[in-house]
Amino acid sequence: MDDFIDKILISQEEIETRVNELAKQISKDYVGKEIRAIGILRGAFIFMSDLIRNISVPLSVDFMSISSYGDDSESGGVIRILKDLDKPIHNKHVLIIEDIVDTGLTLQHLKEVLAIREPASLRVCALLDKKERRIVNNLEAEYTGFVIPDQFVVGYGLDYAEKYRNYPFIFVLKSKYYQGI
Ligand code: XMP
Ligand code: MG
Repeated sequence: MDDFIDKILISQEEIETRVNELAKQISKDYVGKEIRAIGILRGAFIFMSDLIRNISVPLSVDFMSISSYGDDSESGGVIRILKDLDKPIHNKHVLIIEDIVDTGLTLQHLKEVLAIREPASLRVCALLDKKERRIVNNLEAEYTGFVIPDQFVVGYGLDYAEKYRNYPFIFVLKSKYYQGI
């Protein structure tokens, strides 16, 4: 095992099983509809690519890049759109694909921004949920992969200082590898 790994929280096999379950559920819920999957860059890109390959209804993708964390530690509250969607979402069945919901502030703002554009529907699929950290009331993703404890995790698309996204499992780094978290 690589020496920077403190603990593997979710294995590659567990991720694969759960992502397939989510895709099945989504395929069932959207029968007769077409999904516009919106990946939130960069953390969601690996999850999104695995998820959509198992979704069986018609689907198109678009991406948005937002920043909420100034330095990977605290949620700023207000999001900044670094890259907006390429296509309009008016009358589309939008499914936001997120890596993780933490305080919920990012998702709350994102949902507000997208709702103004009047999609036919707006749902969220988040791989991870740090439920105990939630600040925003009544903000739940319609689809959640795993509820995890309040620990900073990386891997499977999630980073610390842009590293570790390439690992196929989700893990906690040894504390000496974090600075200021
Ligand atoms: P909020 O607090 O607004 O934050 O719900 C959501 C965003 O915070 C980042 N985040 C993490 N990123 N490991 C990460 O790599 C974590 O454990 C973690 N917790 C929060 C992430 O960018 C997410 O979109
Ligand atoms: Mg990050």
